Amino acid sequence: KKVVLAYSGGLDTSAIVPWLKETYDCEVIAFVADVGQGASELENIEEKAKSSGASACYVVDLQEEMLQQVIVPSMQAGAIYEGDYLLGTALARPVIARAQVEIALKTGADAVAHGCTGKGNDQVRFEGTYAALAPQLKVIAPWREWPYRSRQDLLDFLEERKIPCAASKEKMYSRDANLWHISHEGGELEDPWQQPTDKVWTWTASAEQAPEQPEQVSLSFEQGVLTAVNGESGSLTQLLTQLNDLGAKHGVGRIDIVENRLVGMKSRGCYETPGGTLWWRALQGLEQLVFDRPSTQLRHYLGQQLALVLYDGNWFTPVRSALTAAAKELAAVLSGEVVLKLYKGQASVIQRSSVHSLYSEAFATFEDDEVYNQKDAAGFIRLHSLPSRIRALHKGGH
Ligand code: ARG
Ligand code: SIN
Repeated sequence: KKVVLAYSGGLDTSAIVPWLKETYDCEVIAFVADVGQGASELENIEEKAKSSGASACYVVDLQEEMLQQVIVPSMQAGAIYEGDYLLGTALARPVIARAQVEIALKTGADAVAHGCTGKGNDQVRFEGTYAALAPQLKVIAPWREWPYRSRQDLLDFLEERKIPCAASKEKMYSRDANLWHISHEGGELEDPWQQPTDKVWTWTASAEQAPEQPEQVSLSFEQGVLTAVNGESGSLTQLLTQLNDLGAKHGVGRIDIVENRLVGMKSRGCYETPGGTLWWRALQGLEQLVFDRPSTQLRHYLGQQLALVLYDGNWFTPVRSALTAAAKELAAVLSGEVVLKLYKGQASVIQRSSVHSLYSEAFATFEDDEVYNQKDAAGFIRLHSLPSRIRALHKGGH
């Protein structure tokens, strides 16, 4: 028997390797997704996996796929969860699980396994993708099966088997990083009355430490896709890296929220999405210039629905395809340039232009104009308010 494990090199998945072998008498293949979590997390990861007992270790670079296939469509739709969360963790999951399934099929494995707990969203996201792409594979979620409950339990388990592990007993937060964001949960953050200290944040400067001088940055878009930063084009990975650096320097993209998990409980999380926040703010600025009112409404609707789809692990579904197709169609006019001012944690739109702009100074001006006849408004308002007039007359007459 053969199991492909989504392996991160952390304590949990290091213990899962030997546990799977003992519990299922199987061969364990480690699968490592490179989603831009950083070189330090990937360092010596193959050796690590093998010293835990994996028979093989595949490291797959999924950054480009995550950007092109998931992040771009999500931004085109404006997928934001519960008003604030740019879905950094959720955006990576379908890509990771898809690649894991590919390895499982390629190596002829019977099962896939992951290190998510039984209390979170991630288990649903991984298994939602497994179900959609390879329902025949058996799913093993050790956290829902084994008796261990704490980090100490796992350290003891490894110690008994003389398996080396660099993990320390104290780990302050549960973090999840990729090219889009880093999340911080757990530790004292579990108390919503505890403020996040400087130990929580790892990517961005605080507003206090951010430069005293504001900085401007220009973002160019073609059909809702980022194409240049400060007029210079580059690969999406390069552009996002540039935006991440700029946003981080000015303390942009921090949020501290209490969110509703799919499994019913609330959780508290601190997230840093510096580049993504700039991307999102700029796109909003452009949207205001080019969308008529019904398009704006529809985009908000699509964005909210797609956020739920992503959060809930339903990426590989017909509803997701329909939502992203509709959002792409709307985004056909999202081309142009937006200038943001970055200052002390804020990113404000200060300039915007587009060939598809519907904004007309000639119509909007408070000065004298030739194009808009104010007398037309009288008839419009009489019809617009007709239901109110009828209701009022009706009440008056009886
Ligand atoms: N609560 C966020 C979400 O559900 C972040 C989850 C972080 N995941 C993790 N394995 N640390 O998307
Ligand atoms: C986990 O429980 O594995 C991480 C948090 C989440 O999935 O929501």
